[in-house]
Amino acid sequence: MPAWLENTVFYQIYPQTFRDSNGDGIGDLRGIIEKLPYLQELGVTGLWLSPCFESPFGDAGYDVADFYKVAPRYGTNDDLRALFAEAKRRGIRVMLDLVAGHTSNQCAWFRESQRHERNQYSDWYIWTDSVWTWFAPNLQVVVGGAERDANYVPNFFHFQPALNYGFAKPDPKMPWQQPVDAPGPQAVRAELKKIMAYWFDLGASGFRVDMAGSLVKNDPDGSATAALWREFRAWMDREYPDCALVSEWSQPQIAVPQGFHMDFLLPFAKPGYKALFRPDGDAVPIFDRSGRGNIRTFLDEFAPLYDATKGRGFIAIPSGNHDTVPRLGDGREARDVAVAMAFLLTMPGVPFIYYGDELGMRALDGLPSKEGGYGRTGCRTPMQWDASANAGFSAAPADQLYLPVDPSPTRPTVAAGLADPQSSLRATQELLALRKTHPALGASGEFRELYAEAGQWPVVYERTLGSERILVALNPTDTAREVRLPALPALESVRALAGEAAAFVSGADGWTVKLPPVSYAVVKAG
Ligand code: NOJ
Repeated sequence: MPAWLENTVFYQIYPQTFRDSNGDGIGDLRGIIEKLPYLQELGVTGLWLSPCFESPFGDAGYDVADFYKVAPRYGTNDDLRALFAEAKRRGIRVMLDLVAGHTSNQCAWFRESQRHERNQYSDWYIWTDSVWTWFAPNLQVVVGGAERDANYVPNFFHFQPALNYGFAKPDPKMPWQQPVDAPGPQAVRAELKKIMAYWFDLGASGFRVDMAGSLVKNDPDGSATAALWREFRAWMDREYPDCALVSEWSQPQIAVPQGFHMDFLLPFAKPGYKALFRPDGDAVPIFDRSGRGNIRTFLDEFAPLYDATKGRGFIAIPSGNHDTVPRLGDGREARDVAVAMAFLLTMPGVPFIYYGDELGMRALDGLPSKEGGYGRTGCRTPMQWDASANAGFSAAPADQLYLPVDPSPTRPTVAAGLADPQSSLRATQELLALRKTHPALGASGEFRELYAEAGQWPVVYERTLGSERILVALNPTDTAREVRLPALPALESVRALAGEAAAFVSGADGWTVKLPPVSYAVVKAG
């Protein structure tokens, strides 16, 4: 396990909209390099870049045409190498996005694969036996259009043909379903390793693996896909032991024991995670001023996952990502965002901050779909840096931006946040510094609930590592809350680290935790 994960907090950059250095209206790698001082000052020590490779951008770059080449709109491979080096100088590691499950239909491998003549790539994708095979149980097929007399299986949108990692249980009646150890699937595996090694050698510290659970088909319990990742992990432990993988799987109890260093909790698979910050049907979020949110919805989902992964890898709780609306900042003021950050940055595992969430950036409603974003488009708007034109994102005319900047006069910016001691940015900065300097708050520090009752606030928990013991109390609601914790074992004194300094009060009958509305406290025992 790479030791650096222990105190890393990642920051996800959507390269299209972080910072445009050359005034063409779209973000680029030089723009990211330019903003490294900000990221260092913020206190994150890891970056995850959404795909920056050559692509027709039908799905914002998740449709890769050339896995070995940076998309010209973002710069060159040399720019990426420079980003790795510059980031490293500032103590920041960079992870790329590995779209392992599919390619663009414009990828040279797919162009070859769809040809009539058999060639090296014929079995790199999943093709049915004839163009008249329109249905396959549990699989979609894209019908017609290829030179080859066959249909292919897409992995996401129709122009994202699934790479062929084989079938866990090939249907004997459909011999086109190849087993995992067939030559095609084995060649695809070897190529995936080659891609990873290429970027590791250039300076990447790891990958976020897109749709990591989707590789082997007809694999209902995920065991064949897991076996593939076990093999990859063994290879990484041998060849690249300092590099790490985080999966977009959202089944940490499978992904972590089987090879991923980290797995995300994501709203599509984990309702308890979704409930934290986002309304679900009629239910208000857990972090809601009304106090009607129920922390058990999250913790009852989290506890077994935590137990299943402890000592083997980490759960990654993201503040949001490029697929998630609303954003953390939607419907929340700076104080509310700060309480949410206090939670994210004091939980075990490896937190991920989606760009702009530290400011409380809001998603834009009603935008037309951009590059396959559809309903996700609103959470991908330009980063808000300052009060200059286009919020400092780009020098291009406003109508030539990749996406519009939030037009709200109250939109938060980095410049305003840094100048305001009450901003969520400053709170995030403080919490990041705290996490870095207190091992108990790191990825492996033990987590234990002290008070977390349905419909009750505050929530109190502790993190411990060795002799260090840190207690956290959260009150996202708009009323003062107080709870008596007479049984707080062996707690003699506390020292405030962040938030409300006087929240933990010792009395004759034990400890009471008192929090004003929308507040938090992080204290150190002893
Ligand atoms: C998950 C990515 O996060 C999403 O943006 C993309 O559209 C799909 N995978 C397909 O690659």
